[in-house]
Amino acid sequence: METELIARYAVIGHPITHSRSPEIHAAFAVSTGRNIRYERIEGSLPGFEEEALRFFEEGGSGLNVTLPFKERALALTSRCTERALCAGAANTLGFGPEGIWADNTDGVGLVRDLVNNLGVELQGADVLILGAGGAARGVIQPLFEAGASALWVVNRTRARAERLVAELGVVCAAKSMQSVSWSDLSTLQGFNLILNATSSSVNGEWLGLPDNIFLKDSWAYDLGYGQSLTPFLQNAQQLGVTRLSDGLGMLVEQAAESFQAWHGVRPETRGVIGGLRSRITPPV
Ligand code: ATR
Repeated sequence: METELIARYAVIGHPITHSRSPEIHAAFAVSTGRNIRYERIEGSLPGFEEEALRFFEEGGSGLNVTLPFKERALALTSRCTERALCAGAANTLGFGPEGIWADNTDGVGLVRDLVNNLGVELQGADVLILGAGGAARGVIQPLFEAGASALWVVNRTRARAERLVAELGVVCAAKSMQSVSWSDLSTLQGFNLILNATSSSVNGEWLGLPDNIFLKDSWAYDLGYGQSLTPFLQNAQQLGVTRLSDGLGMLVEQAAESFQAWHGVRPETRGVIGGLRSRITPPV
C-alpha cells in the first residue's frame, strides 16, 4: 500500500505552548484542500540554528519562527525578501531549489488587517508607533508601502527610537519618519492611526497616554491581543476613541501570507479570525 507523503510545517519559538499557528494553518489547509502536518517546536536558546536546520534536513517544508528567534532566523540564510531585510527579522522560512529562504509577513499581515478587514485608510495617514523593538521595526516599511505619509516613533528609551529611525532610513529608504521621546507626546498633534508595538500589553502595563495624540476618528490598534481589551485599548477608550482593534486579525493575516508563500494559494481569513475570536474571548 502506498503511503501519502504529508508535507511537514511547524512553528518554532520559546515558549511555544500557547502558539495559535497550528490551528490557524490547519484551518487554512482544510479550506484550500491541502493535507499538511503543522506542529509546535519548543526551540532551545542555545540551539535554535541547529534545530531549524535539522527540521529542513529531515524534509520539513516550511517553518514559522516566533519570539525570541526572529532575528536569528534571518541570519540563517542570505536568501531573504526585502521586507525581511527591512524588518531585520524573519518569521517565515521555506525550502526551495537554492536552499532555505526567509521572509517576514508580520508587517503585511498588519496592513491587510487594517485595510481589508477594518477599512482603515492608510493612504496619506499620519501614524504614531509606540515602541522601537522588533515588533515596531517589522511594520514600518509595509506601512509606508501601503501609503502612510508620515510616521513618528516614540519609545520609552529615546535613543532606541533614534537608532531605529536612522537605520531604517538607510536600509529601506523609509522617508518622513522621526523619533520622539515619551515626554514629548503631550506636545504632538493628533494621529490617524496609533499603533501599540510595545510589549506593555503582554505585561498588563498602563501606558498613560495623553489625549492630544488621538483625533475624534483615530484608530487605536494594539499589535498584542488577549481575552479582554488590552490596557492600551482601554486607555484609548477612556480618552474617547471608538475605533479600537487588537492584533488578532494581524496574527491570522501574517499566517495567511506565510501560507501563500509556501503553497501558492491565499486562504480565506475572515472566518478563521471569527472562529479564533470566539475561542479566545469567553462568552459574556
Ligand atoms: P518586541 O520584539 O516585541 O518589539 P522588544 O524588542 O523587547 O520586544 O521591545 C519591547 C518594546 O516595548 C520596547 O520599545 C520597550 O521600550 P524600551 O526600549 O524603552 O525598553 C517597550 N516597552 C515595554 N514595556 C513598556 C512600558 N511599560 N512602557 C513603555 N514602553 C514599554
